[in-house]
Amino acid sequence: MKRLTNIKKILIIDFGSQFTQLIARRVREFGVFSEIVSHTDISNLNHSDLFGIIFSGGPLNVYQNKEIKLNKIIFSLGCPILGICFGHQLISKHYGGKVKSSKIREFGLAKIKKVKNSLLINNFFNKSNFNNVWMSHADHVTKIPKGFKKIASTKDSKYTIIENLKLKRFGVQFHPEVTHTKKGKILLKNFIFNICKAKKNWSSKHQKNTLIQNIKKQVGKEKIICALSGGVDSSVVAQLLNKSVGKQLKCIFVNTGLLRMNEEKQVINTFKKKLKINLIYVNAEKQFLSKLKNISDPEKKRKIIGKLFIKIFEKYAKKIKRVKYLAQGTLYPDLIESKSVTGSKSSKIKSHHNVGGLPKKMKLKLVEPLKLLFKDEVRKLGTELNLSKQIISRHPFPGPGLAIRMPGIITKEKIKILKMADFYFINELKNQNLYKKIWQAYAALLPVKTVGVMGDNRTYEYICLLRAITSTDGMTADYFNFSKNFMQNVSNKIINNIKGINRVVYDVTSKPPSTIELE
Ligand code: XMP
Repeated sequence: MKRLTNIKKILIIDFGSQFTQLIARRVREFGVFSEIVSHTDISNLNHSDLFGIIFSGGPLNVYQNKEIKLNKIIFSLGCPILGICFGHQLISKHYGGKVKSSKIREFGLAKIKKVKNSLLINNFFNKSNFNNVWMSHADHVTKIPKGFKKIASTKDSKYTIIENLKLKRFGVQFHPEVTHTKKGKILLKNFIFNICKAKKNWSSKHQKNTLIQNIKKQVGKEKIICALSGGVDSSVVAQLLNKSVGKQLKCIFVNTGLLRMNEEKQVINTFKKKLKINLIYVNAEKQFLSKLKNISDPEKKRKIIGKLFIKIFEKYAKKIKRVKYLAQGTLYPDLIESKSVTGSKSSKIKSHHNVGGLPKKMKLKLVEPLKLLFKDEVRKLGTELNLSKQIISRHPFPGPGLAIRMPGIITKEKIKILKMADFYFINELKNQNLYKKIWQAYAALLPVKTVGVMGDNRTYEYICLLRAITSTDGMTADYFNFSKNFMQNVSNKIINNIKGINRVVYDVTSKPPSTIELE
């Protein structure tokens, strides 16, 4: 694999974990550059470019020798290595320890107890020497190698943190990179600065300049169209393109008929009138709804929408003439949950529309400048690009829109009801100053009708589901805890104002096990 740059870095060796990119960005959050490489390709490593190395987790078992193609040279480079989950097991096995399938698998939160001090765990445990960490493993280390020390344990896994200070090797069975591990960042910070002695060399400004340079290089003098939705991601992409290849750019905004209330008016107003971006508005409502008629399978919905989007872009590209590139605001979570960026084996969860729906032989070449970034990184980048707070702080909205907030078939009647329910919910959040405290909120319409009673009459109408979550990156999430007063108020507003809904429910699941969207 070609190295992205020769900036000194923390190198992350990917073994296929869902969280590999999260490790990379945690490092970058500390202002230190990081790069991911697949474990199958660690050629051309230059020791002097590395502050340290982190092994990711992954779905493999350390005894699957044929699948693990890691060049053992990595262990002789002399820089510190931190192994996470599978990486922890791999380090243990490499130096002579034992790893076995565990009788009690640990998934989710686990309580961990400190047994020894270590540079890695400065300020990580509470005063009683405990902490809550996020686990996701079936195998565990049953014997540590000679020269290694046990630093912490859980009830079910004895060697949860291990170290060999002389060799500068460290292993943690849990995932310090996910926000649900309390003080996980502190542990990573200890590794990066106290153990690797890394120096700060990365910022949003740096990122902006690098992305602008990359776009200029990729696009050259060719024409490019940008799929604009008015959300944070595509707005940031449009502004990045504007600053790098502005004259060659045309933005296309497609009304799928599955947008939120009044969204098309707002987008046209912001981008055409305020930001003076060259915008083409396409009303494709009829096309989308006709292709989606009677489709209820979530994956089919996503693929139909993705394909139609591309078809429309190709049609407009032809009209504009000699367009070579299509830019879109794909983020890393879109990729990681559709397939892995490094080609490794993280399992597919959903076909996000701007990935899964692309035809194999697409005529336009893709430009996806944000594909290695997470939402909060994109927001910081947006600020760096002088986008308004109103755009930057908008809740994410998926490309397939209301189609995936309406399990079952899609009808005009359902869309109308859902648009109104969402409007009342979001409006109430804004009125109560809650919008900014919540990472994403929306209303969905469930495909079941239930009985109610209104004004002494029996009703038989849809259920409206409300979802509001807190998160930092959309990879993990928790539900937002509303007051009873707020819930009652919203429920009343929705039921009193919208004919077609007679029951409102609130989704209290986190991610995992649920995803943020319903489909
Ligand atoms: P899930 O439902 O996978 O959502 O937990 C994670 C985040 O991604 C958004 N999302 C999408 N964004 N195209 C997008 O541009 C899509 O197909 C898509 N599907 C989900 C979702 O709203 C949440 O913020």
